[in-house]
Amino acid sequence: MKASVAKLLVFAFAAALLFAGGKSALADPIIVKFSHVVSPDAPKGKAALLFKQLAEKYTNGKVTVEFALRKDQENGNKGGPRGRIGRSFMKASVAKLLVFAFAAALLFAGGKSAVADPIIVKFSHVVSPDAPKGKAALLFKQLAEKYTNGKVTVEVYPNSSLYKDKEELEALQLGSVQLLAPSISKFGPLGVKEFDVFDLPFLMTDDSHARQMMASPMIGELNKKLEDKGVEPLAYWDNGAHVYTANVPLIVPDDFRGLKMRIQGSKVLDAVARQLGAIPQIIAFGELYQSLQTGVVDGEDNVPSNIWTQKFYDVQKYLTVSYHGRLTYSLITNKKFWDGLPADVRPGLDRAVKESTQFFNETAAKDNADALVQIKATGRVQMHVLTETEKQAWVTKLMAVHKEMQGRFGKDFIERVYKESGFVPPQS
Ligand code: LMR
Repeated sequence: MKASVAKLLVFAFAAALLFAGGKSALADPIIVKFSHVVSPDAPKGKAALLFKQLAEKYTNGKVTVEFALRKDQENGNKGGPRGRIGRSFMKASVAKLLVFAFAAALLFAGGKSAVADPIIVKFSHVVSPDAPKGKAALLFKQLAEKYTNGKVTVEVYPNSSLYKDKEELEALQLGSVQLLAPSISKFGPLGVKEFDVFDLPFLMTDDSHARQMMASPMIGELNKKLEDKGVEPLAYWDNGAHVYTANVPLIVPDDFRGLKMRIQGSKVLDAVARQLGAIPQIIAFGELYQSLQTGVVDGEDNVPSNIWTQKFYDVQKYLTVSYHGRLTYSLITNKKFWDGLPADVRPGLDRAVKESTQFFNETAAKDNADALVQIKATGRVQMHVLTETEKQAWVTKLMAVHKEMQGRFGKDFIERVYKESGFVPPQS
């Protein structure tokens, strides 16, 4: 015991010397700020991301690679990571390190380590920071760090900058990322196909139906299935109803005939596109703008706030306010990670989840209404709100999908969804 205390003091002293010489011995990760001016999807962007993953993997976390968000600031910084971070840090840390080493030695003698590194929570998502989910993720960060007194640090990665749609679910199950808020239409790869049922056309176009459904006992049962896959659903975030965009007017169902339409991964959305005579194509959200711009697809459906913040109105000429489907997110974490959190950290995180969920549901409703006005004001798209008669033609056309899905989910299951959501199928 005595020997190891002495060893530790020597080590600390050596580390301080090393640090004074510009290197750090004790294991705060070396922050490597990687700045570039291209989009994450460009070759350099992708290579930079790969570099990040490999560097963090091959240095066993001793290095953290961060991407600069704003082009102007970082490039002007001649000092690089050491320039801006290292300089102010250097002096203060030498003294801190000695005190730390001494305290650690004492505690080591007592068999415990004193200064716990914060728990890092990586929150990855695919939308922009100013979309409702982007804002709620940043609020969650603030609240989580505040309510845990800094015992948790949340790193938010927007715009698919860390993982794209499909990758993020795999990364969560592997524990490489701790928080996501994907659309439940993308849960198919998790092996819980029942979540696709919420894409049945016109099932939850009414806000109260949607909230009723997402608070129902049925969701509790589906949550259990997610937990069995190692995924813990913490909350549901309602991002409102979908509208369609394309480069041709979409007024009657036949207007979709032959169009290549982008869909999220759900089998029900696939059936909806086929029922309209369109060709469904699954494309990651992060690649959608480019796919619309280059004509890989002719159109897509989304909530107005995504169309606004991703500037899809720049590459689409028409928008139909159809409210035919809904975008519901599930705030999910890795079950093992969450269950393993220290008891003094969990209440703060639970509170942050609750408050950012409330914030999200309020913000999304307002942002989606504002976005329709903002998109219209650009004069870039022709907007059409379906009349009641036009909507009935869509409902009639798309009820066939409800029928078709009885084969996939079972008639009883679908009738239960109707009951719990309050949806009344039109009399045929
Ligand atoms: C989409 O893929 O269209 C959306 O789910 C993206 C998002 O997360 O809002």
